[in-house]
Amino acid sequence: MDVPHGRPHAPGIPSVPGDAPPLLELRRVTKSYQPEGDAPPLTVLRDASLLVRQGESVAIIGPSGSGKSTLLNVIGTLDRPDSGEVLLEGDSLAGLDDNALAALRRERIGFVFQSHHLLPHCTVLENVLVPLLAGKSRADDAAVARAMALLERVGLGARTNHLPGRLSGGERQRVAVVRALVHNPSLLLADEPTGALDSASAREVGRLLSEVHARDGVTLVVVTHSRELAAGLGRVLEMRDGALVPA
Ligand SMILES: Nc1ncnc2c1ncn2[C@@H]1O[C@H](COP(=O)(O)OP(=O)(O)OP(=O)(O)O)[C@@H](O)[C@H]1O
Ligand SMILES: [Mg+2]
Repeated sequence: MDVPHGRPHAPGIPSVPGDAPPLLELRRVTKSYQPEGDAPPLTVLRDASLLVRQGESVAIIGPSGSGKSTLLNVIGTLDRPDSGEVLLEGDSLAGLDDNALAALRRERIGFVFQSHHLLPHCTVLENVLVPLLAGKSRADDAAVARAMALLERVGLGARTNHLPGRLSGGERQRVAVVRALVHNPSLLLADEPTGALDSASAREVGRLLSEVHARDGVTLVVVTHSRELAAGLGRVLEMRDGALVPA
């Protein structure tokens, strides 16, 4: 079966050599949900295959209910496929138990969601440090310095002690992007990261994601309804009938 990969890059988007090592691979992934009652299972992912090379940026589009979030959850190891395989940096995730998957997420994957999911009673800086706290009572100095540097970079250096409630929607989402990057992941997953923002803030967050990709070489997979955001990424795939096809 064809695995969609590679296409000419738009100007300004770093091109990825065709022989760059694969970062993420999905092999014929299937996922169904069992609705309540006697209804038959709903198959959402059907032989979905994908190859994303290190340093690529990929947009995933598709109608509401087509399975984009389900796909991202499977990629991000928040959910397991019913069949098929997910590989990260060449290693199959199939045999890993929940603890191993959690460790892998902590080290290698960053998530940004449509709604920022910041903790309302923690400051901006504390929110950003949350992913580093697993099993620890405080983040080390190097981690705090990295968090501060990232917040500076997204224009929030003066807001680190503010509570999220005092930030605009776009600022909150920038904090969420920083939180997703603070542990230096190799793969950044974003599920409609601009869906809840006005167009100016959406553009700003889109620019931030493109910059993070271009400057830091983070591999990006972004689910979006925004044509503008999708057009700024290296290639666009569409969820259709449970599989990924070039858009
Ligand atoms: N936990 C669940 N249990 C049962 N059905 C589910 C569950 N999660 C998702 N679904 C169903 O699976 C289908 C795909 O959902 P999913 O959230 O992946 O779509 P989506 O493409 O992200 O949509 P949207 O653009 O609205 O966010 C939908 O029909 C949804 O109702
Ligand atoms: Mg969704």
